[in-house]
Amino acid sequence: QEQKNKIQVGFSQAMTTDDWRKQMNSSMKIEASLRPEVNLTISDANNTIQKQIDDIEKFISNRVDVIIVSPIQSKPLTAVVEKSIKAGIPVLVVDRKIEGENYTAYLGADNIEIGRIAARYIISHSKGSGKIIEIMGAKGSSPAYERSMGFNQLVSENKRFSVTNVIQGDWEKESVKKPLKAVLLQNPDVEYIFAHNDRMGLSAWETAKTLGLEKKIKFLGVDGLNTVNGGIELVKSGVLDGTILYPTGGNEALKLALKMYNKETIAKTNILNTIVIDKNNAEIIENQMDKVDQQQEVIESQQGAINLQEKEYASQNNLVRLLSFF
Ligand code: FRU
Repeated sequence: QEQKNKIQVGFSQAMTTDDWRKQMNSSMKIEASLRPEVNLTISDANNTIQKQIDDIEKFISNRVDVIIVSPIQSKPLTAVVEKSIKAGIPVLVVDRKIEGENYTAYLGADNIEIGRIAARYIISHSKGSGKIIEIMGAKGSSPAYERSMGFNQLVSENKRFSVTNVIQGDWEKESVKKPLKAVLLQNPDVEYIFAHNDRMGLSAWETAKTLGLEKKIKFLGVDGLNTVNGGIELVKSGVLDGTILYPTGGNEALKLALKMYNKETIAKTNILNTIVIDKNNAEIIENQMDKVDQQQEVIESQQGAINLQEKEYASQNNLVRLLSFF
C-alpha cells in the first residue's frame, strides 16, 4: 500500500529526551506496524511550546486523519487543538491535558488519584516525624498540578502529617538539586520526599546522599519504568521506597486514534490503570514487564522479516516485469 493512501496518524510528542517518552513512542510504533493501513508520523517538540504548536499546525495543513498530542503545557496548546477540531480533524490528548473540553478524547492515568495513592502510602507507612517535602513537576503541565492536588488533599486531612516544603521542579533531575539541598539543610528531620516522577526522586536521593541523609529519608516517585535507572530498579536497589506506575499508553493511544478515525463511539476520558510498586511486588512486576518486552522484541523482529520479504518480492516482481519485455 502506498504511504499516501494510508490512514495518516500524526503524533505530536512533547519531547523525547527521557525513557518514559521513548517507551511511549516505541509502543505506539509497534502498534502502528501491526496495522499496514496506518502511517504514523511522530514529531518531537523538543520541550518547546512554539515548536509543538508548529508541529500540530503542520499536521492540520497536511490534512492528517487523526492527531494525537501530549501537550508540554495545558494553556498554550489549547488553541491549536481547537483549531484542529474546527478543521474536522479529531484529536486524542494523551498524558498531559489541555484546558477546556474542546478535544475528541483523553487517554492517561488518573493523576489526581496518583497523588492520593502517594499520600495514602506515606500515611500508612510512616513511623517518624510526619514531615514531607513535595517535589513538583513542571509548572503549567497538568500531571504536576493534579498529582499535587490529590496528594495535598489527603495529607491536609491528616493532622499528624504536613508538607513542610514544596520544591518547584521541571520533571528533570537538575532542577531538584540546589533547592532541595537548601531545604534539607534547614529541615534534616524530614521523613518522606514525594517527587512527581522517578527521575526527580533519584535526584532527591542523590542530593540527600551528599548530606548523609539518604538512609533517614524515604523517597516516593512516579512512573515505574522497567529500564536502567527506572523506578522498578530504584525500588529494588532501595533508592525509592515506592513508585506509582504511570503507564505511557502508547499502544492504547494508537488503537483509540483508529477508533476515532472509524467514527466508533469511545469514552471522552479513557483512564489507564495504576498501581503502587514497592519492595513487596517489584520483582513480580519486573518479571511481567520483562515478558511483555520480550514479546514486543519478537513482534519487532518478525515485522522486520516481513518488511524484508516484501522488498524482495517487489524487486523480484520488477525483475519478472523487466524480463517479460524480452
Ligand atoms: C516524561 C514525564 C514523566 C512524567 C510525565 C508527566 O516526560 O516527565 O516522567 O510522569 O512526563 O507528563
